[in-house]
Amino acid sequence: PRPLAVEAARTTTRQGLAITQRPRRNRKAAWSRRLMRENTLTVDDLIWPLFVIEGEGRREPIASMPGVERLSVDEIVRAAERAARLGIPAVSFFPYTEASLRDPTGSEALNRENLVCRAVRAVKRAVPEIGVMTDVALDPYTSHGHDGLLEEGAILNDETVALLVEQSLIQAEAGTDIIAPSDMMDGRVGAIRAALDKAGFLDVQIMAYAAKYASAFYGPFRDAIGTKAALVGDKRTYQMDPGNSDEALREVALDLAEGADSVMVKPGLPYLDIIRRVKDEFGVPTFAYQVSGEYAMLEGAARNGWLDGERAMLESLLSFKRAGADGVLTYYAPRVAEHLRAGA
Ligand code: PBG
Repeated sequence: PRPLAVEAARTTTRQGLAITQRPRRNRKAAWSRRLMRENTLTVDDLIWPLFVIEGEGRREPIASMPGVERLSVDEIVRAAERAARLGIPAVSFFPYTEASLRDPTGSEALNRENLVCRAVRAVKRAVPEIGVMTDVALDPYTSHGHDGLLEEGAILNDETVALLVEQSLIQAEAGTDIIAPSDMMDGRVGAIRAALDKAGFLDVQIMAYAAKYASAFYGPFRDAIGTKAALVGDKRTYQMDPGNSDEALREVALDLAEGADSVMVKPGLPYLDIIRRVKDEFGVPTFAYQVSGEYAMLEGAARNGWLDGERAMLESLLSFKRAGADGVLTYYAPRVAEHLRAGA
């Protein structure tokens, strides 16, 4: 008697190929595809970045980010309430600073009443259960649009870190839960951690923009916070070279050694390989930032009818999970949360 496997193969041969491996069997029905799926996107994976402007009851569209608006602090509270209702774990704030308040040293960053501090206090008061994350960097506040102090064409590292430490303390006093340094100065995570601990902010987390590349995909964001026209030169002396991958591991190792609680890779889609390497190498909470240009790219095509926006949104976000990310900062957060809720 023939072994069973051979018998099975012979039977199949009558209809076609003599193969026993048919991966399509697992894909034949929706129930099976769901059952076999390795990675899923859930609302727990989302951080929603929001743009803050001066005023009241104010919502201002951003031309290069269709569907995204700058919101005054009261509207930010409404957005945070919506996020909480949808189950989004955290929101993140970026200010559009009035031109008159921008100066070469970004002094508005150290104003306890600046837009970000007011947004943090208002949201923590109204929606205490939601996580609040704030960016640490000087670019929304400097007249030259750089993340640090600019002197004779160079960005000063250590002098900038001293200001970032002050900025972090002010945000912590306002009640932020996560400090997210996005400036890419050397040594800033360690300096910020030490200052937070000394001031008693032992529980304020640091999510380091550890591997942040000098990318063309930040263009719409710079529109959104009004730094595009102002930016003198580029950010290549502090943000990473897109050709590098080992360097990302070095940056992550440094930030972790200095006390980062979680790390981020930015941008997202063009750097999925970096997310995978970081996750495999360190096994720490790893986040991706699906940045403004990625959003604009998908949303622009979708609004032109060139691709199915809903599916492209879900597929792009799922790709971060597959690459190893624990979560994603995305301007799609409320939309995707609504979609996931409707599907549940
Ligand atoms: C700046 C900062 C940038 C973003 C977040 N923080 C832009 C930049 O580095 O110029 C980009 C986010 C996005 O493009 O969505 N500290």
